[in-house]
Amino acid sequence: MKRITSTVILGLFTLPALAGSATTLAEEKTGGDTTVFATGRNAFSFPAANLSDEERTRFVIGNSFFKRNWVEAPASTRARDGLGPHFIARSCGGCHVNDGRGEPPKPGDQPVSLLLRLSIPGVGAHGGVNPEPTYGDQFNNFAVQKVKPEGKVVISQQAITGRFADGETYTLLAPGYGFRDLGYGPMAKDVLVSPRVAPQIIGVGLLEAIPEADVLANARAQAADPDGIRGVPNRVWDATTGAPALGRFGWKANVASIAHQTAGAFNGDIGITSPTFPDEGCTAAQQDCLAAPRGAQGKAPEIDPETWSDVVFYQAVLAPPARRNLADPRVKRGAALFRDARCATCHRPEYVTGRPPRPELSSPALAGQRIFPYTDLLLHDMGDALADGRPDGRATGRQWKTPPLWGVGLIRDVNGHDRLLHDGRARGVLEAILWHGGEAEASRNRVLAMPKADREALVKFVESL
Ligand code: HEC
Ligand code: HEC
Repeated sequence: MKRITSTVILGLFTLPALAGSATTLAEEKTGGDTTVFATGRNAFSFPAANLSDEERTRFVIGNSFFKRNWVEAPASTRARDGLGPHFIARSCGGCHVNDGRGEPPKPGDQPVSLLLRLSIPGVGAHGGVNPEPTYGDQFNNFAVQKVKPEGKVVISQQAITGRFADGETYTLLAPGYGFRDLGYGPMAKDVLVSPRVAPQIIGVGLLEAIPEADVLANARAQAADPDGIRGVPNRVWDATTGAPALGRFGWKANVASIAHQTAGAFNGDIGITSPTFPDEGCTAAQQDCLAAPRGAQGKAPEIDPETWSDVVFYQAVLAPPARRNLADPRVKRGAALFRDARCATCHRPEYVTGRPPRPELSSPALAGQRIFPYTDLLLHDMGDALADGRPDGRATGRQWKTPPLWGVGLIRDVNGHDRLLHDGRARGVLEAILWHGGEAEASRNRVLAMPKADREALVKFVESL
C-alpha cells in the first residue's frame, strides 16, 4: 500500500510540469517532455513526466531495490541477503543519496560515497584495467562479520593559493590518498589509484539515447578547430551485451550502459552477484572472503534478473529537473560568458535523443526529446593537477569525461553540500572551474581575467542548470 501512495504523490508533484509547459522556453525543459519542475531535497528523484501508469509502477519497484539495504547472508529474507563479503555501502542509495552526488568524508571519517578504483599498469580483460593482484579493482573499506575489511583510506589535504586578475585571492584544497590497516598485506608497489565520488544519476537514460554519431561528431568538430580542445571517445566492454561500445558513464566514460553500471555496482560496491557478474569480487589472496556464506542460500545469483532490470529501468527514467531563474539578468549574462569562455565546446548544451538502445530496460518516452545536458561525452586532458595517473579503457591517466552540468545547481538542495569534480575536491562551481587545466586551461584563464561581477554571473548561470 505504501508504494501505491508514493506513486500518487509523484503524480501530484509532476503536475506543474504540464501546467508550465506552454509558456516556458525550450531550454528550461532540460529533458524535453521528460522534465519535472522540482526543487528541494527530492529534486533528482522523480520519474520522467511523460511515463505511462505501468511504467510509473515499475519505477517505484526499481526505486525500492535501489534504496533498500542489503543484509548479510544467511538471512530469513532470501530476496535481499548477500551483502558483501567485502562492500563499501549497503545500498545504491547509500552513495547516490537522494539519487544525488557523493562527497569526500569529513576529516577522520571513512569515505562512503567516494570510492577508490585500483589497478596496476598494463591492460586487463577486454582492454580494461589490470586489477591490483591482492585487492582487486576497487578498495572495499567494509566487510561482513568474520571477514577482514580491506583496510582504511587516509586522505590528506594541501592548500594551493592563487589570484584573479583583479587581485582577489582564492584557495583550493588539493587532496592526497593513502591506505592504512591493510587487511591482506601490502599493495603492489606500482598500484594506480583513482578516487571518484558518486555522480547524480538524473537523466542517464536520456544520455544513453544520445545518438553515438552525435558524440563522434563532437570529436571531429573539436579536432577541426585549432583551439587546442581535442575530446576523444572512450570505447569499453559491455558485459551485459558481450560487446564493446561507446563509453558514456563514469568519470572516465569507462562504462557503456546503465545495465553494465548497475551489475558492476551491485558486485563491486555492495557485494551482490548477478547473472552478469556471478562471482564475488574476492581475490585469491582473500581466503576469508572466498569462504564467507553467499546470499540466496548460495543457489543462484544474489539478485534475480527481473529485479535487476527494474533497478536499471528506475535509473533510466529518472527525470532531469527543469532549469531555474532563466529571466535573471545575471543568468543571461552568464550564459553569454559561458559561450565566450568556450565552456560550451566541451559542455555541449543540446541534443535530440534517438531511441533507447535496450527498449526492455528503458521507455519509449525518452526518444526524440530535445535535451540540454551540457556534455560532449568525450574525454579531455584536464592537466596535471586533476590527473589521477590511472588509465581506464582508452582514457589516459590525464583524461576525464566532461560531466553533464544539468542539475549541478540543485546538488546543494538535494545533498546539502556543494562538492564538485571527480573526487569532490572543489567547493562550489568557481573552484571547479579554477581546477580546469590542460585542454581547458584557456577557459580557466578567461575566468581568471574576468571582473568579479562576470565571475559571479558565470557561476549563477551554471547554478541555473
Ligand atoms: C560506494 C558508493 C557507490 C555505490 C554503493 C553505488 N555507486 Fe553508483 N557510482 C559511484 C561512483 C563513485 C560512480 C562513478 C564511477 C566511475 O567513475 O567509475 C558511480 C556511477 C554510477 C552511475 C553512472 C552515472 C554517470 O552519469 O556517470 C550509475 C548509473 C550508477 N552509479 C548506478 C548505481 C547503482 C544502480 C548502484 C547500486 C547497484 C550504485 N550505483 C551503487 C558510487 C557508488
Ligand atoms: C576541455 C573541455 C572543457 C572545457 C573547455 C570546460 N570544461 Fe568544465 N569540465 C570538463 C571536465 C573533463 C570536467 C571533469 C573534471 C574532473 O572531474 O576532474 C569538468 C568539470 C566541470 C564542472 C564540475 C562538474 C561536476 O559535475 O562536478 C563544472 C561546474 C564545469 N566543468 C564548468 C565549466 C565552465 C564554467 C567552463 C568554462 C569556463 C568549463 N567547465 C570548461 C571539461 C571542460
